[in-house]
Amino acid sequence: MTKKLWIYPGSFDPPTLGHLDMIRRGAGLCDELIVGVLHNPAKRGLIPAEERVRLLEKLCTGLPGVRVVLWDGLLADLVKHTGACAVLRGLRNGSDFQYEQTMGQLNSRLLPGLETLCLMTDPRLGCVSSSAVRELLYFGRDISGFVPDEILEDVTAYGKQD
Ligand code: PNS
Repeated sequence: MTKKLWIYPGSFDPPTLGHLDMIRRGAGLCDELIVGVLHNPAKRGLIPAEERVRLLEKLCTGLPGVRVVLWDGLLADLVKHTGACAVLRGLRNGSDFQYEQTMGQLNSRLLPGLETLCLMTDPRLGCVSSSAVRELLYFGRDISGFVPDEILEDVTAYGKQD
């Protein structure tokens, strides 16, 4: 039987509690989950991509069947390259839905057969986003409750460099 391989892509700048929840839940639904760190041209970067990979690897230690990759290109090409059968994304609200619907359609046009699967965000994490974390850091506020404890210090240190 073929392995159910999924990709959970994102810019993860920085990884949040919402991302970690999605990784844990996604990993429980497939055989192998690739967490893909990709470039979102619409977003200004805070943390270098290689460092985001390191932070995600720290979070995924001990999660069976999960690995982190850095991909400098289109998501559809990563899906093709790995032979993944689906892309996983999280939905917090209607704005996320509209974005994911368009991206899902675009990606399946680039790679016919590419499936996008969405899981509903845990409602307790509905206001958690990387952009909220970047903004809180900008104003010098505490980001605990937004970012996993394991990487809280690392991410806070990045905020101080800005
Ligand atoms: O965490 P994000 O910023 O919502 O993730 C968005 C991401 C990185 C998955 C998206 O921007 C992406 O797929 N970037 C790679 C380029 C790509 O494939 N774009 C879509 C087709 S033009």
